[in-house]
Amino acid sequence: MRRLLLAAAAVALLGGCEVFDPMISQQKVKAYRESEFWPDRISQRPPQPGAVSREDVLAPEIATGRGPDGKALARVPVPLTRALLERGRTRFDVNCAVCHGYLADGVSLVARNMALRPPPSLLARAQMPDGWYFQVMSEGFGVMPSYASALTPEDRWAIVAYLRALQLSQSRTIGELAPDDRARLEKEGR
Ligand code: HEC
Repeated sequence: MRRLLLAAAAVALLGGCEVFDPMISQQKVKAYRESEFWPDRISQRPPQPGAVSREDVLAPEIATGRGPDGKALARVPVPLTRALLERGRTRFDVNCAVCHGYLADGVSLVARNMALRPPPSLLARAQMPDGWYFQVMSEGFGVMPSYASALTPEDRWAIVAYLRALQLSQSRTIGELAPDDRARLEKEGR
């Protein structure tokens, strides 16, 4: 019995090794290693001639958040629709709220536990142009990484639009609401 257990343990150990993992032991090139396959011996291949990046098919302003003068766009350059705002809400809740809070007010579990540089409230920067928020998401900001690979440019603009709605919602008093909305809110609050 003891021998059997030992044998089982040995198999389990070996099982964790490269020899049994086809993904690890398969032939492949590592990014900076020399390649024996390509004549120029470079493993990282350049894009094929004529290859178009997904973002290149968009108008430059939509893809970069900058106008022809290189400055951040003042306004979201895609049509503002309810669908865009709803998309922005789901994308914000999934990608940003964990750090910046669901109201973008900087109140989140991560912020409470990140001692050195907690994610700030995004309500305090309402004066920044829309294109700036787009750039922060596209390029990263300080210790915050870029979200370009997680969010399409459309999603990033949707988040900017929703962020504007959040900023508005957090800087208004109930008296400023349209009468219908005010009545509804008062009813819900009771
Ligand atoms: C993992 C946590 C985290 C997530 C997720 C995150 N951020 Fe940030 N964000 C930060 C931190 C930390 C900073 C401050 C970075 C610094 O100053 O170095 C920051 C800074 C910013 C700033 C600049 C704020 C200012 O006033 O200077 C903006 C705008 C911003 N984030 C927007 C977003 C948006 C939009 C998303 C979602 C796509 C997002 N962030 C997701 C952590 C996060």
